[in-house]
Amino acid sequence: MIRVLFVCLGNICRSPMAEAVFRDLVEKKGVANRFEIDSAGTSDWHVGKRPHEGTLNKLAQYQVGTEGMYARQLRKDDRDTFDYIVAMDSSNEQNIQERFGGSADHVFRLLDLVDGSLKDVPDPYYTGDFQETYDLVTEATQRLYEKIEREHGPFER
Ligand code: 4NP
Repeated sequence: MIRVLFVCLGNICRSPMAEAVFRDLVEKKGVANRFEIDSAGTSDWHVGKRPHEGTLNKLAQYQVGTEGMYARQLRKDDRDTFDYIVAMDSSNEQNIQERFGGSADHVFRLLDLVDGSLKDVPDPYYTGDFQETYDLVTEATQRLYEKIEREHGPFER
């Protein structure tokens, strides 16, 4: 089993979007049984809440499911549970490492996987632009799949 955790600040906008889009991707590739996919926030501000309406609407527009997704806070033991811990921005990455009490080398930023100048996924909670975030997350999670396939695959279909 390959365990992937997406992390942002509130766990209501960006990381649930990445979680849902990545789950949809592995389902379409027929390899969902190889993966456990989750998301978390560095803050506890929205614990127990469903994703932001803007994230839900954008995912519904692309027929990406969000069933059973509720915000939770990152825990210290996530460090050992997950194989890939994917931060939405530099601030999240720093907060994750602080929570883990050291530098874990399986923590990285999602946009580290994409060529381009943007390194932080813009936060639609502030920008209001859920399309921009969806497009970036969709491209970057493709790259993430390719990285995991290089490191663990190829997966049987
Ligand atoms: P997220 O966005 O980290 O992508 O879920 C945010 C959600 C909520 C807040 C900030 C960012 N907030 O300040 O409540």
